[in-house]
Amino acid sequence: MPADALAELVERLLVHVRAGTTELAGAEYEEPVGAYADGGRFALERERFFGGDVPLVVGLAGQLPAPHTFVPFDDYGVPLLLRRDGAGRFRAFLNVCRHRGARVVEQAGSARRMTCGYHGWTYDDGGALVGVPGAAGFDGIDRACRGLVEVPAGEAGGLLFVKPRAGAAPFDATGWLGGLAPFLDEREVATRPYLTDRILDRPTNWKSAMDTFAEVYHFASTHRNTLAERTISDTMVTDTFGPHQRFAAPTRTITDYGTDPALAPLDVMSLVHLIYPNATLLVSTRSIQLYTVAPGRAPGESLMRQRFFAPAAPETEAERAALVEMCDFYFQVVRDEDWAKAEAVEAGLRSGANQTVVFGRNELCLHRMHDAWRAGLGLPTLSRRFVRESA
Ligand code: FES
Ligand SMILES: [Fe+2]
Repeated sequence: MPADALAELVERLLVHVRAGTTELAGAEYEEPVGAYADGGRFALERERFFGGDVPLVVGLAGQLPAPHTFVPFDDYGVPLLLRRDGAGRFRAFLNVCRHRGARVVEQAGSARRMTCGYHGWTYDDGGALVGVPGAAGFDGIDRACRGLVEVPAGEAGGLLFVKPRAGAAPFDATGWLGGLAPFLDEREVATRPYLTDRILDRPTNWKSAMDTFAEVYHFASTHRNTLAERTISDTMVTDTFGPHQRFAAPTRTITDYGTDPALAPLDVMSLVHLIYPNATLLVSTRSIQLYTVAPGRAPGESLMRQRFFAPAAPETEAERAALVEMCDFYFQVVRDEDWAKAEAVEAGLRSGANQTVVFGRNELCLHRMHDAWRAGLGLPTLSRRFVRESA
């Protein structure tokens, strides 16, 4: 079935590539500028999306490749400790020592026990407090009540999800990801070796950053000398999975698919998964890339983290060097092309020139993404209708 699912996407793309068309929404979509620039809207988003009620992507399984591995993660405003326990289960804790609140884990590593660097309190695999230096000084406290605070966490399709708030309601990651979970399992996302983690910090609204991932209409202009040499601009087919989406975009070799036996489906298209509300997962033969975006302190600030995973572990120095080169290439593309545009958009939104931004019928993933955000905030949705048709 995995090959069939991909082959079907290729066939859907070929219809458009041969006709010079793309999937279209029934009408354009106009989003008021205030959705990006308004302080009240921004505060509501921080509370509703990033305050602990929505499961958020914090990484991929490859970052915690074995029992007892851990990694700190701070992007969502609370210090988190992501960890695989001795049984291999993914768990998350507030990365806050129960003595006086220092960070227990400062960097990624692997250990059965974790010791806070401030005074040396030690916690076990499950977060229980198991070591207190100078124990006589604390013989009046109940250690059983001083374990690390656990927060709801789950793993599905290779994606690691956390609700970043103590006391948040538990969730089912597989149910949350819906139909994308088996699809990403078939792509073996969970087994991809982790390569690098970088921050992209240009001043822009977090949704403007997400917008850069949701269409390929910009490829011919923004990526004229880079990605557009490989990928056809303004051609995509889309699918929805609850609030999440997936689209496929064709490479220029797609018309050789079927006649060139060397071409597998993933050689002739890229898959982009928009994971509500703030993550993007790119899957191609060359790499798996995860982008998570977090709001900053003001509407025009955000933090984007880019993570790379290899199709397979490099076996030679030459393979490793090629992967590093690829990571550098994509980092520069996103920073100097996509995010440079997002930064310019931020200034434009504040200029008063536009009352709304308009998403074309060919930018239909943007319609759905903005409607999903609106729905999540209890705001009226704006799309008039979704239909699949050719230009
Ligand atoms: S704050 Fe961690 S041991 Fe003191
Ligand atoms: Fe782009």
